[in-house]
Amino acid sequence: MKKAELIIDRQFVLSEIDKRLYGSFVEHLGRCVYEGIYQPGHRTADEHGFRQDVAALVRDLNVPVVRYPGGNFVSGYHWEDGVGPKEKRPLRPDLAWRTIESNQFGLDEFMDWTKQTDTAPMMAVNLGSRGIEDAKHLIEYTNLPGGTYYSDLRKKNGHAAPHNIRLWCLGNEMDGPWQEGHKTADEYGRLAEETGKAMRLLDPSIKTVACGSSHFYMPTFGEWEYTVLSHCYDQVDYISMHQYFANRDNDSQTFLANSDLMDQFIEAVISVCDAVKAKRHAGKKINISFDEWNVWYHSGEQDKAIEPWSQHPPLLEDVYNFEDALLVASSLITLLRHADRVKIACLAQLVNVIAPIMTSDTGAWKQTIYHPFALISNHGRGHVLHTLVNSPVFESCHGRDGKSAYIDAVVVENDDEDALTIFAVNKSLTDDIELSCDLRQYEGYQVSRHVLLHHEDLKAVNTQTAPDTVAPQEGSGSSSDGGRLSVVLGKQSFHMIQLRKM
Ligand code: AHR
Repeated sequence: MKKAELIIDRQFVLSEIDKRLYGSFVEHLGRCVYEGIYQPGHRTADEHGFRQDVAALVRDLNVPVVRYPGGNFVSGYHWEDGVGPKEKRPLRPDLAWRTIESNQFGLDEFMDWTKQTDTAPMMAVNLGSRGIEDAKHLIEYTNLPGGTYYSDLRKKNGHAAPHNIRLWCLGNEMDGPWQEGHKTADEYGRLAEETGKAMRLLDPSIKTVACGSSHFYMPTFGEWEYTVLSHCYDQVDYISMHQYFANRDNDSQTFLANSDLMDQFIEAVISVCDAVKAKRHAGKKINISFDEWNVWYHSGEQDKAIEPWSQHPPLLEDVYNFEDALLVASSLITLLRHADRVKIACLAQLVNVIAPIMTSDTGAWKQTIYHPFALISNHGRGHVLHTLVNSPVFESCHGRDGKSAYIDAVVVENDDEDALTIFAVNKSLTDDIELSCDLRQYEGYQVSRHVLLHHEDLKAVNTQTAPDTVAPQEGSGSSSDGGRLSVVLGKQSFHMIQLRKM
């Protein structure tokens, strides 16, 4: 049997894990808001119209931050349309997705929903069709206690206390020619600087995210980050990264290697951030907000058939299969392996739109990708250890030197529970691999839980009528005798192995 080894040292802590690594994203797009989190009249809806079947699944996913309201949508959005009496809210065309926005759900509803789902907002301002003035009004509405026009308007709209939104995205994908109000790096960098400055004058406690590249292969990648940060370094705390993965050629082995692309992308962005830091002799570090990532390609053809200008049509409704779940697990492992610099990450998106949760009028269910996300989000808390993985490799265009490892793994120490958690994916489609790890520094630790996600069919999916086709099972075959952990990771599988001090 092929063998792999995990090498850790109790002293070699990479970083505390920022819980916001397990964030998600709600955009006014398709059925994410309407028929997703909000559906007045639905049998599970509360007095606000919030679907309680969906809210329960969101709570179980344990997402500490949710980005809102876009996405491409934000670049043409007038947030004022979505506050105040619902009967007075206008219908507007949304240029990003060529749909009609009813504005029946807006900022105040979103804030109420975040409280119900134990999460926090990551709010984006429109730097596409609008600018500093709009951003100023918005933060005045959300964060000032009262005594000014917009803060009093919030009170009039039923929210006496300020929303106190701490985390702000300065626009969305401003490097993308598809974006309403697309800008050059110089234009955007200056605008981000001035907008960040104005927003911080109103509330110095906020943290801001500048737009980075929309994906690794954007023609402006690198130059974009360098120029943008050269302008707005002092006014921002994070730079964003976005990346979606696809298996259009039905080459599953190469598809699973995409976490290596994510890894190289992160390292490249860190290099650019640190180059700007060095040039400025700056003390401050810019960290990463990987605020859009997921698999996205299944819905491409069906979306072409959707007529424009309807309200919340079923756009981007990818039905995820088992191999997508493996890549989502590997992506989360990659984010954890960079927890020293990646402080925020958002699985895009949360409900119906390229999402872990799907709904119909008669129910809500978990897609395959829900499971690795929920396991890692709930148990990947504490601090990450530098985790060296010696693994057999395969040829891949995404890996360094044309090679990717079959085993992707990371080890997390869960401080408050005296537990050590290993997350591992075996990407081999043919071979089981025996994984071992020297644990003599963890005397008395024994395997207390082993959860396995596996399916023989890489293309297996969960549906409303068969929601548990791909679901976690109890894993087996691990031993931790004599200070050495040994476990057989079956082909195409994800594992969560927890050890506790007995
Ligand atoms: O998440 C879907 C879209 O992908 C977002 O609106 C946009 O930011 C990205 O291109």
